[in-house]
Amino acid sequence: MAHKAPFRLDGRTALVTGGGSGIGEQTVRALAGNGARVLVGDLNADAAQAVADGVANTEPLPLDVTDPAGVQSALEKVSSLDILVNNAGIGHVGMLEECTLDDFRTVMRVNVEGMFIVTAAALPLLTRSDRPCIVNIGSVAGLVGVKRRFAYCASKGAVVSMTRSLAADYAGKIRVNCVCPGTVDTPFVEAYLEKYHKHEKAETRKQLDARQPIGRLGKPGEIAHLVLYLCSDEAEFVHGSMMAIDGGWTAL
Ligand SMILES: NC(=O)c1ccc[n+]([C@@H]2O[C@H](COP(=O)([O-])OP(=O)(O)OC[C@H]3O[C@@H](n4cnc5c(N)ncnc54)[C@H](O)[C@@H]3O)[C@@H](O)[C@H]2O)c1
Repeated sequence: MAHKAPFRLDGRTALVTGGGSGIGEQTVRALAGNGARVLVGDLNADAAQAVADGVANTEPLPLDVTDPAGVQSALEKVSSLDILVNNAGIGHVGMLEECTLDDFRTVMRVNVEGMFIVTAAALPLLTRSDRPCIVNIGSVAGLVGVKRRFAYCASKGAVVSMTRSLAADYAGKIRVNCVCPGTVDTPFVEAYLEKYHKHEKAETRKQLDARQPIGRLGKPGEIAHLVLYLCSDEAEFVHGSMMAIDGGWTAL
């Protein structure tokens, strides 16, 4: 008897927010490489276009996840949607006294409100799919306290809770899961090093490596392949899960 290759997404359409860089870009590659048609949603229209130009079966879909009207009009151009990967996100470094109300609101707007806005706008399309699923990109910062990441921890804690809430409400209708990476080597980390540790990048990289018990950062492709698994038929029993992928960080 012929077996279907695992993790195939033929005939399905996916939207990856923040698909123009890092984990999002690798997720676009993993999903499209396994048969899905993928919409590259990103605030940075040039980055979305560049990814789409380089990956077959993908299209750019410029959008700002914090703009409800913009998200709505972007999704009006989409006729069907089976997979939503809520990946767009930003960081902030600082403990409470280093975090202004504006800083806090900015992080919450993108990481929390953005996820709400995109998921709400995508819901009518997802409910028309025969196997809809959502993968939210959380972080270890949503599972444990990370030093000097007050706003970021708050936002990723909300991502974890929103995932559980959606999983409770849509069980049997939409599969919803959350991926919680440790530190992953993406432009997000490079921007952090450039902004906060410009003159001590190598030393700070060593400290970032050491936070993961296996002694290195994650690679964006490693996160993307967990997302691919969660979107596939092989993961049909996986619902409402928070999947840490962190080199052992949260095992300690
Ligand atoms: N890199 C890490 O160490 C790490 C660890 C855990 C979780 N994460 C999470 O993974 C996700 C992706 O991170 P990354 O490291 O790939 O980041 P990245 O900075 O490389 O890419 C993020 C992408 O999101 C886009 N984006 C930002 N704001 C947006 C908005 N308002 N609307 C639409 N697009 C927007 C950016 O233009 C960019 O292309 C984020 O949610 C982040 O919090 C990252």
